[in-house]
Order: sequence, then structure tokens, then C-alpha cells
Amino acid sequence: MYTEKVMDHFQHPRNVGELENPSGMGTVGNAKCGDIMRIYLDIDENQVIRDVKFKTFGCGAAVATSSMATEMVKGKTVQEAMAVTNKAVCEALDGLPPVKVHCSLLAEEAIHAALWDYAQKNGISIEGLEKPKSDISEEEIEEEY
Ligand code: FES
Repeated sequence: MYTEKVMDHFQHPRNVGELENPSGMGTVGNAKCGDIMRIYLDIDENQVIRDVKFKTFGCGAAVATSSMATEMVKGKTVQEAMAVTNKAVCEALDGLPPVKVHCSLLAEEAIHAALWDYAQKNGISIEGLEKPKSDISEEEIEEEY
């Protein structure tokens, strides 16, 4: 049911933890399943994501997608990080079962929420970034990846 990459990131998640004094932090939940995701970003003066950590009360797919998403945004500029969509993360994991695709939205939304927090604190705007939702369950998508 799960690809090898999903199992690998679930069993050995990268970037688990928290950051003290993060440049940006975002928390989102999914009221339907009750899972919660928090992302911490450390961003340098050139708007490059130096470090990233995540913490979750989430299912295995949420852990795997967050692990992969954090790996994908590390070292990128905040603008480049916007390209790390849930679709891109799912593809990098060689796919998720359709019923689990919503879990990958948690990772994307938490990163966006952390970027939003960073942008607000620094008075900058990030192209394409919208005010984050705190609950993603209302916008779940049914697409398959
Ligand atoms: Fe809730 Fe996966 S079941 S995030």
C-alpha cells in the first residue's frame, strides 16, 4: 500500500524536533482526523531556509510527507519553497494512497503558515503566499496523485 520511500520517511523521519527562536512557525490541523502539524523555519538574511524542523500528532503519511517536505525546502529561498506543493511532495515519495493525500496537505499548509509568520514578522511579501488556514479539512481535495 505504501511505497518504499514513504515507509523510509515514516520509519526514519528527517528533521523532527523544534527550533528555538524560529524565523517563522506555523501550526495547522485537520479537524476531521484530529491530526496536527507544526513547522519551524530558520531563515537567514538572504531569505534562504537554513534549517527546518517539524513536530506532529499525525498519522504515518503525515509524518512521511512532512519529513520529505522539510528535506525539500531546506536550503531553498522562501520563494523557491513555494514550489514545494503537496503534489511535489507526493511525487517525491512515489505516490500516496488516495485516501492519504489529504495528509500531505498538512505539511504544505504548515510550511505556508510558517512562511506567512516569517513574512509578517519581517514585513515582506512572498509571491503566491496566502493567509494560512488553521484547519485544512474544509478544503480537502479528492485528486489522486
Ligand atoms: Fe490525519 Fe493523515 S489521517 S493527517
